[in-house]
Amino acid sequence: MNKTITLANGNNIPILGYGTWRNVDPKECVDGVKWALEYGYRHIDTAQMYGNEELVGEGMRLSGVPREEIFLTSKLDNPDHGYENAKRTIDESLERLGTDYLDLFLIHWPEVAGHEEDWQADNIETWRALEDAYEAGKLKAIGVSNFKVKHLENLLPNCRIAPMVNQIRLHPGLNQEDTVKMSREAGMVIEAWSPLSPIPQMEEDEAVNAMTEKYQKSIAQLLLRYCVQKGYVPLTKSVNKDRIRENAAIFNFQIDEEDMAYFDQWQWQGELFF
Ligand SMILES: NC(=O)c1ccc[n+]([C@@H]2O[C@H](COP(=O)([O-])OP(=O)(O)OC[C@H]3O[C@@H](n4cnc5c(N)ncnc54)[C@H](OP(=O)(O)O)[C@@H]3O)[C@@H](O)[C@H]2O)c1
Repeated sequence: MNKTITLANGNNIPILGYGTWRNVDPKECVDGVKWALEYGYRHIDTAQMYGNEELVGEGMRLSGVPREEIFLTSKLDNPDHGYENAKRTIDESLERLGTDYLDLFLIHWPEVAGHEEDWQADNIETWRALEDAYEAGKLKAIGVSNFKVKHLENLLPNCRIAPMVNQIRLHPGLNQEDTVKMSREAGMVIEAWSPLSPIPQMEEDEAVNAMTEKYQKSIAQLLLRYCVQKGYVPLTKSVNKDRIRENAAIFNFQIDEEDMAYFDQWQWQGELFF
């Protein structure tokens, strides 16, 4: 559970992350973070956009786990792109979370309202604020999220410090192979968001149900393990105590090659919202 991957700057990121998207009910959010830390998660993912940074900070403090044992990520909100805005909101995130550094900070989205025509210059200028905060020691690592090949092609030649992470939506049926390949070639670790999206469809899938018997694991555990074996850092969210624990029990089995190949070619019928 405490396995890590090393980022380009030598820092370690725990392989399994606890996500907090849509955790806006104060009790659910605080309890979820606290339980996750009590069960051994050491990586928490939030974002300015989620509106829950104070609650995440409270859950961390209530858990009693020392700050330095936790890998904490937040992300820049879309309206706060631009050098000065990003610089200011990094400090605001630190204040809300009750910490003086973040382990990772990401540009949440590459093309945001108001910058449809000049997203290229906007990303370069915004990134400069992350580089400066990294050099100032406020951010221990910096990265991007939802950046596709064209966004990376724009940013990479124009940055002083290359992004260390790309956090993108990934699961069977959504492989984003070009983005993964380019991100890795540029030295980034890949984080997978919404890795459990296929659960409803997979519940009807005979081969997947046979795998739950074969491995004695739930579909959620298979999907998270799939990410781990692909070398991704899965972020997963639950406000349910039992599921938080279930989702962490993925380090004591191995999906074999044939079943990995089944997931690789699996066709997803769900919707994408971007
Ligand atoms: N960068 C981005 O743009 C971006 C976008 C989306 C998400 N994220 C990050 O990635 C994290 C993960 O994505 P996600 O929140 O969509 O998470 P997810 O883990 O893929 O899915 C969460 C959903 O699955 C349910 N669930 C959790 N464990 C389960 C289990 N064992 N069995 C059945 N259902 C289960 C949860 O319900 P219950 O809570 O009721 O258990 C919730 O409805 C987010 O929380 C956020 O931190 C980033």
